[in-house]
Amino acid sequence: MQTTSDIWETLYTQRAIRAWKTDPVPEELIWKVIEAGTKAPSGTNTQPWGFVVIQDDAIRQAISDQLHEGLKGNEGLQQMLEQRSQSADKTTRLMLKGAQRLFTNLASAPVFIIPCLYQVSSPAPEGLLSGSSIYGAVQNMLLAARALGLGTVMTTFQMAAEQILREQCNLPDDATPVALIPMGYPDAKFGPTTRKPVETVTHWEQWGTNKERVD
Ligand SMILES: Cc1cc2nc3c(=O)[nH]c(=O)nc-3n(C[C@H](O)[C@H](O)[C@H](O)COP(=O)(O)O)c2cc1C
Repeated sequence: MQTTSDIWETLYTQRAIRAWKTDPVPEELIWKVIEAGTKAPSGTNTQPWGFVVIQDDAIRQAISDQLHEGLKGNEGLQQMLEQRSQSADKTTRLMLKGAQRLFTNLASAPVFIIPCLYQVSSPAPEGLLSGSSIYGAVQNMLLAARALGLGTVMTTFQMAAEQILREQCNLPDDATPVALIPMGYPDAKFGPTTRKPVETVTHWEQWGTNKERVD
């Protein structure tokens, strides 16, 4: 099992996992992942969140089926995924193939976590900034899962599945799902990940002033 308690290894190898083994995830690990989420910062420490854990086979399958149906009915999305999966870049090709497959094999992840913004009353209640009080928690959970040897992928599938989530999980009106995170033991390898070099995205005093990194 690929566990680690080294924070740097965790950061450098956490990546999108889109294939899972059938092994169940022990409940104590689910608690740890979610508790890691609750350690994140939020505006004025309001902690405007709730986390729905879905292990029920029928509910996971119903959500997965709805997403698959949605994809079948969305020619634009299908074409975009198909075109980009022909990309010259191998990493992009693999990622898009995996993303396409995820529409059909989502339910093979034994756990879904649905982070919800709940009763937002921070100084930034609307729009993009409202997410700033919960996406830190989401990232904490992805990292904690990686450290525990569990594979996750951040998705925004909750948008396409919101109705069914509301019905099946009895979400109150003042809870807004902000992600759908499938989780399980990975049937794929963790990172390293491919990212823009840090030197190219770091601007010293003035935007555009880049420099060589110092180790
Ligand atoms: C806001 C957001 C939405 C995402 N939505 C999806 C998604 O719907 N489906 C999917 O397969 N991956 C999704 N991802 C995962 C990204 O594709 C992944 O993080 C990115 O390609 C980097 O992958 P890597 O960590 O394996 O290098 C999403 C990531 C983010 C941050």
